[in-house]
Amino acid sequence: MRTVLRGIESKTVYPAKEQRYRGENGELLEVVSDLTSFNRSPAAWKEHFDEQKEKPAFIRYKDVLLPDLPEKCITSLSEGDTPLYPATKAMRDYFGVEKLELKHEGMNPTLSFKDRGMVAGVSWARFIGADVVACASTGDTSAAMAAYAACAGIKAVVLLPEGNISFEQYSQPIAAGAITLGLDTDFDGCMELIQKITAKHRGIYLLNSMNSFRIEGQKAIGIEALHQRNWQVPDWFIIPVGNAGNVSALAKGIRELYELGIINRLPRIAGVQTKAASPLYNSYKNGWAGLVPITAKKTKASAIQIGNPVSFKKAVRELKAFNGVVEAASEEEIMDAKAVVDASGISICPNSATAMAGLRKLAKAGIIRKTDSVVAILTAHGAKFSQATVEYHRAANRFANKPKALRADVAAIEKALGL
Ligand code: F0G
Repeated sequence: MRTVLRGIESKTVYPAKEQRYRGENGELLEVVSDLTSFNRSPAAWKEHFDEQKEKPAFIRYKDVLLPDLPEKCITSLSEGDTPLYPATKAMRDYFGVEKLELKHEGMNPTLSFKDRGMVAGVSWARFIGADVVACASTGDTSAAMAAYAACAGIKAVVLLPEGNISFEQYSQPIAAGAITLGLDTDFDGCMELIQKITAKHRGIYLLNSMNSFRIEGQKAIGIEALHQRNWQVPDWFIIPVGNAGNVSALAKGIRELYELGIINRLPRIAGVQTKAASPLYNSYKNGWAGLVPITAKKTKASAIQIGNPVSFKKAVRELKAFNGVVEAASEEEIMDAKAVVDASGISICPNSATAMAGLRKLAKAGIIRKTDSVVAILTAHGAKFSQATVEYHRAANRFANKPKALRADVAAIEKALGL
């Protein structure tokens, strides 16, 4: 095996196939694979990825994601190969940067980036012989896990904060046949419970981002974006943050490319939170002080309504290594940013819009320069959050495109159109 699990602080090593989510001392774990054992030069790595172009993204990048995973264990729904859109002029003007691209992870099979993690997590579950998988979720992890488990013929259990996820997200695990439990608590409460359940019942395999193998799959987002840019590194990646797993995955994947010589410099990374749930931002503002968990407030960006991010320590370590920054955006800033992107024909969710709102603030503050090149990670599709969208446009908001209800006749339509 090329891969081990390693404690992020003590560096204690555990066998990769051991079903383990934390170290003996309770620390977070990460997957470490000896990639030098492939004996490939940077040019040979690039050639390898190019040769795999026709394969699903997870298989194309598998050697830097989960090299020990046998191909026969892979359950894929053809995730990945998401578009990297160039920003329109309206977007460049509004967000304040001249070189902006949007990596739209909402264009995955279950409409979020979580599919990148679940192709890895569910495939690894098959590899180690798990037949029940479980997660707590704000809506997207559960949708993805349920779909991949259904495809693999594995039983799925999801814990959701009842009333705190969108109707579309709620429908996804139900439709895919998962045991769907809506609990009268918030996401952090669900997260605590799923850790207790999976510690007590070892037959249930945890697929939250505490599962380090799932995180390896999410590295593909940044890697694929860089491949699409012909390995030209942008000045910034910008990404929304909730439980802080995805920002950690993005950074880890890019760092490893750098260590292999595939890219020749590191970008900076900006994580953005909603002001309703900004413990990472608070830490950053206080000189990367330790995590002070909070009770997250209700927010339109409900997928990142998280007060006690599980991957906090990993995220801080990575952000420091990338000379990173953290920003926080208000509800109004988030929904206005969403409207500007949506109006270009690219439909995004309020969580993705949080990153965009943060970009605007960082550009205004001069932290991101007008001439810097920026890749924004959009994490889920707008179709998952139709209620937030319609409510925004029905009310007196800055970019509202107010729908009208009319009498069903020609004259009324003519009047509405000014004909
Ligand atoms: N964007 C979306 C659309 C999400 O669903 C999430 C997290 C994030 C951003 C933040 O990523 O947690 O790794 O920092 N959703 C999780 C879930 C919590 O359960 O679906 P993160």
